[in-house]
Amino acid sequence: MIIQSLELANFRNYESLKMEFSPGTNILYGENAQGKTNILEALYMVSTTRSHRGVRDRDLVRFGQEEAHIRTELLKGDIDYRVDMHLRKMKSKGIAINGQRIRRASELVGLLHIVFFSPEDLGIVKNGPAERRRFMDLELCQLDASYLHDLNQYNRTLEQRNKLLKDIAQFPQLADTLDVWDGQLEEYGVRIIQRREKFLSQLIPVVEEIHGRLSGGREKLRLVYEPNTAADEFGAKLRRSRDRDIAMRMTFTGPHRDDFTFFDGEIDLRRFGSQGQQRTCALSLKLSEIELVKELIGDRPVLMLDDVLSELDSGRQNYLLDTIGGNQTLITCTGLDEFVDHRFSIDRLYKIENGRVVMSNSPEAEETRMERE
Ligand SMILES: Nc1ncnc2c1ncn2[C@@H]1O[C@H](COP(=O)(O)OP(=O)(O)OP(=O)(O)O)[C@@H](O)[C@H]1O
Ligand SMILES: [Mg+2]
Repeated sequence: MIIQSLELANFRNYESLKMEFSPGTNILYGENAQGKTNILEALYMVSTTRSHRGVRDRDLVRFGQEEAHIRTELLKGDIDYRVDMHLRKMKSKGIAINGQRIRRASELVGLLHIVFFSPEDLGIVKNGPAERRRFMDLELCQLDASYLHDLNQYNRTLEQRNKLLKDIAQFPQLADTLDVWDGQLEEYGVRIIQRREKFLSQLIPVVEEIHGRLSGGREKLRLVYEPNTAADEFGAKLRRSRDRDIAMRMTFTGPHRDDFTFFDGEIDLRRFGSQGQQRTCALSLKLSEIELVKELIGDRPVLMLDDVLSELDSGRQNYLLDTIGGNQTLITCTGLDEFVDHRFSIDRLYKIENGRVVMSNSPEAEETRMERE
C-alpha cells in the first residue's frame, strides 16, 4: 500500500498544495502550527472518512471558504486508485473513486490502511478509558466498514436517548418511547461489543510477543478486555438500569463505557506501572497494531508518526525505526536533529511553512539524499 501523491484545496491552512511521496521514508518538518499534522489528517480522512482529531468536516474547510478538496493517488498491489473527496461546510461530503461517485462514505473504508501514531498514544495506558476506546474504534473503523456504520448509528442513538432521558424529567409520559431507542441501541451495541472482543483477542498474542521482545523478556504483558456489559446481556441490563438512567438522565449501560486493562503478570500497569513501563506498553500496542493490520489485510499499512520520535528515548526510537522498515512511512517533526544519531535513511524531505511546502529534496538527486550510516 503506497500513497503516491496528495493534492489539497482549501483544506485547513492549505489554500492549495500538491506533493508526492516516496514509497520509503518521508519526513515533514517545520515549526509548530505550520500545517504538518494537517497533511496527515487529510490522508487519514481518505482512509476512514473521519478526522483522527475527531472534528467535524466543517472545521476542516479553510477559514472563510465554503468547501475543501482532498485528492490522492494510491497504489495497491499494482493497481492505481484515485480518490477525490469534496468537503462542504453545510452538507455531507462527496467522494469519488477513480472518477466514480460512491453513494455512502463508508464504501471508501478499506482502500487505504494507515497506522497513526501520535504522542497521545503514548498515554494510552494511564489516560482515561475514552482514549482506549478511541484506539479500538479508530482501528476497527478502518478494518470494517460495517463497524464504522454501527458505531455512527450507536452514537447517534445514544445521543437521542440521552436527550430523551432529560426530557422525561419534565414530561414523564415520554418514558414509553424509550423502548424504541433501547431496541436500536441493543442492535448496534451488540455488534460493537462482539467486534471489539474479536479484535482484542486477535491483538493479544501479538502484543504479548512484541512486548516480550521490547522489554528484553523481563515483562509479561497481558491485555484484558473489560466490556461494560457482555453482548448477550446488554438488552436485559439496559432495561434493568432504566429507572436509574431516568433519575440520573444518562445511559449507564453499553459499549460507550467499555475499557481494557494492561497487566504485567498480575500487576495493573495503569495503577502501578512506572512511566517508562507504561510507555513501553503503549509502544508495544502500536507496533502490534502494525503487525495485526498487516496480517488481516495481507498488505503493509502506511505508518504515520506525528511528532512521536522526540518523545521516545533512543533505545525505543531504534526499536521503532527497525520495526517500521519496509512500510511507507510519513514522519512529522519540528527539527531534523532527532535523526542525527540514528542509522536512518530519509527518502523524501519536506519543509512545511505556513501552509506551503517551502523546500523538498528531489528523489532523483542522489547528493541531496540524506543517509546516516
Ligand atoms: N479550518 C482552518 N482554516 C485555516 N487554518 C486552519 C484551520 N484549521 C486549522 N488551521 C491552522 O492550521 C495550523 C495548525 O496546523 P497543524 O496542526 O498541521 O500544525 P503542525 O505543523 O502539526 O504543528 P505542531 O508542530 O504544533 O503539531 C494552525 O495554525 C491553525 O490555525
Ligand atoms: Mg502537529
